[in-house]
Amino acid sequence: MKIKFLDLHQQYLSIKDEIDSAISETISKSSFVGGNSIIEFEEKFKTYHESKYCLGVGNGTDALEISLEALNLPVGSEIIVPANSFISSAEAISRNNFKVVFCDVSPIDYNIDLDDLKKRITKNTSAIIAVHLYGQPCQIKEILEIANNHSLKVVEDCAQAHGAEYEGKKVGTFGDLGCFSFYPGKNLGAFGDAGAIITNDEKLYLKCKKIANHGRIAKYDHEFEGRNSRLDGIQAAILSVKLNHLEEWTKVRIQTAMEYINQLSDIDEIKLPNIKENVRHVFHLFVVRSHKRDAIREKLSKAGIETGIHYPIALPKLRAFNYLNQGDEDGFAWISDRDLFSLPIHGNFDLSQIKYIKENL
Ligand SMILES: Cc1ncc(COP(=O)(O)O)c(C=O)c1O
Repeated sequence: MKIKFLDLHQQYLSIKDEIDSAISETISKSSFVGGNSIIEFEEKFKTYHESKYCLGVGNGTDALEISLEALNLPVGSEIIVPANSFISSAEAISRNNFKVVFCDVSPIDYNIDLDDLKKRITKNTSAIIAVHLYGQPCQIKEILEIANNHSLKVVEDCAQAHGAEYEGKKVGTFGDLGCFSFYPGKNLGAFGDAGAIITNDEKLYLKCKKIANHGRIAKYDHEFEGRNSRLDGIQAAILSVKLNHLEEWTKVRIQTAMEYINQLSDIDEIKLPNIKENVRHVFHLFVVRSHKRDAIREKLSKAGIETGIHYPIALPKLRAFNYLNQGDEDGFAWISDRDLFSLPIHGNFDLSQIKYIKENL
């Protein structure tokens, strides 16, 4: 038996006709950059979020980088980001010449630990990157309260949390800006790199739009030096088709997670995910932890079951961040990287496979 961690080909086959016709229509109109497919996707994505504005960009990393630039934060700002995330959440800070300050995450939901967050705030702090990791919303209301008390901006990193909700409201709509990645393996994935920013603030939207398109709105009228980070037409057309299926895929992810929790709860060696009461966790990843992680993964691999690690090295310990000297703390995020691993989950997952995974665990 072979159980794939993620099966993008299977997903494509399940909607092949719709995808193929969306691609050929875009090609037949030659609307590769700009054009209707982008306007249509931005419209659909903002409606899905009940957000006022949506801007398609090149990828999720750019979405974060552009959002931080648009906020026009003071030179020398410190920006707080969780120590367990993908590197982009922190890179966006340093690429804008701000100082990265890592904070710990909670062992309950792997998201920002509120007490630790408060301790990291200084007079130079200007913003918080609120990551909704693995598909579970972070405690965004409490984070916003802390941010408001200290006049901080909040950028939500929703790269792993399409359709996730906090108290019935979609993530990405709480902070100043919400950033999404449509990397192919994400819950809503393109056929290449793609990303988006959502916001309710018209000024921020227009600023992001200009930054992402060479500092201009009209052709050859450049207000400032920007960059090129546009969502391309074919990706937008694919994303519009896939957005129609996001709910059905999300339901399968949630059912898969529930089945894992039902079947694996009697295995003491493995710590299963906790789901907070007031959230909709969309299970981009099903992350567990065990002190016997490496042995377990090896056994599963021999049985044909693919697993992953998210993430094998906590961000402050990455070579890339040596210069920050924040690598040798003993908080949960700093030590749990040796125990974390992820079991297969995706929107077309066959739940009957969980029995086999359990047998091998
Ligand atoms: C939490 C998080 N933030 C940001 C990103 C960056 O997105 P992209 O790969 O589209 O640049 C990712 C993607 O892996 C991610 O998981």
